[in-house]
Amino acid sequence: MTRVVFLSDPHLSPTHGFFWQNWLLARDAAARVDAACTIVNGDLCIDGPDSDAEMAFAATALALLPGTVLPLPGNHDIGDEPPGQDPNQIVNEARLARWDTFIGADRWRFRLDGWTLLGVNAQLFGSGLAREAEQNDWLDAMLAESRGDRVGLVLHKPLFVESPDEALPSIASLGPAPRGELVQRLCRADIRLVVSGHLHKHRDRSIDGLRHLWLPSLAFSGGRGLDGDARCGFAVLDFDGDHVGVEIVRPQGIVSHDLDAIKQHGRYRFLREMPPCPPELAA
Ligand SMILES: [Fe+2]
Ligand SMILES: [Fe+2]
Repeated sequence: MTRVVFLSDPHLSPTHGFFWQNWLLARDAAARVDAACTIVNGDLCIDGPDSDAEMAFAATALALLPGTVLPLPGNHDIGDEPPGQDPNQIVNEARLARWDTFIGADRWRFRLDGWTLLGVNAQLFGSGLAREAEQNDWLDAMLAESRGDRVGLVLHKPLFVESPDEALPSIASLGPAPRGELVQRLCRADIRLVVSGHLHKHRDRSIDGLRHLWLPSLAFSGGRGLDGDARCGFAVLDFDGDHVGVEIVRPQGIVSHDLDAIKQHGRYRFLREMPPCPPELAA
């Protein structure tokens, strides 16, 4: 039985500290879990695609987590694949380089007893960047080496929202073409579990024999249009052979912020455009 902590979507910033108290509560609660590692599944930042200071701030926050920390990038860290939800923040070489400089690797393998966890950069799928092909080659190699293990894939975006057959591109998930290619790759191994963030909702479903786990956010509640539990928190997974237990932890005092209210109901389009309100770092 091995525990892994999954933190997701903290949306940290040295200038916009809306969610900093949530991070501190989650960090302290996560530190009390006897975990083999802590995975931080993307959207570490608010304005990571355009700010060295934000990426540096996130790196400092991650450094204060105990033990092995395995981060992955989200759209608020390095941008989206085109066309993206913000045409001014599309993933590119410079944004990947910022991640590399401040955070480190954007993909990793972590082995547990009988399991191989593979973390990948979701923002590359459909990007057309050289690193997309490099990551696919790496994934093929890692899947080949995983033989005999159950495999869990971890990435910021879910493969799909409601159905693996979704044909329309969506900012909520991987696009149909890269999804199809990824599923073909995964089927060559004993894939059991896909863990994603991004939607700020907790949901746990098995579809066609594959379990899709959506992580809650540490920042704000997910939109009303999607199924799932929008309350903020983090997840502790317990890997025990074929069984994976999921506990959602909501530390006392954590606030499931309303993004629309923070942005003053349409006054501001993006959090990064709001007047500065730095976090209370002394806390
Ligand atoms: Fe997010
Ligand atoms: Fe996201």
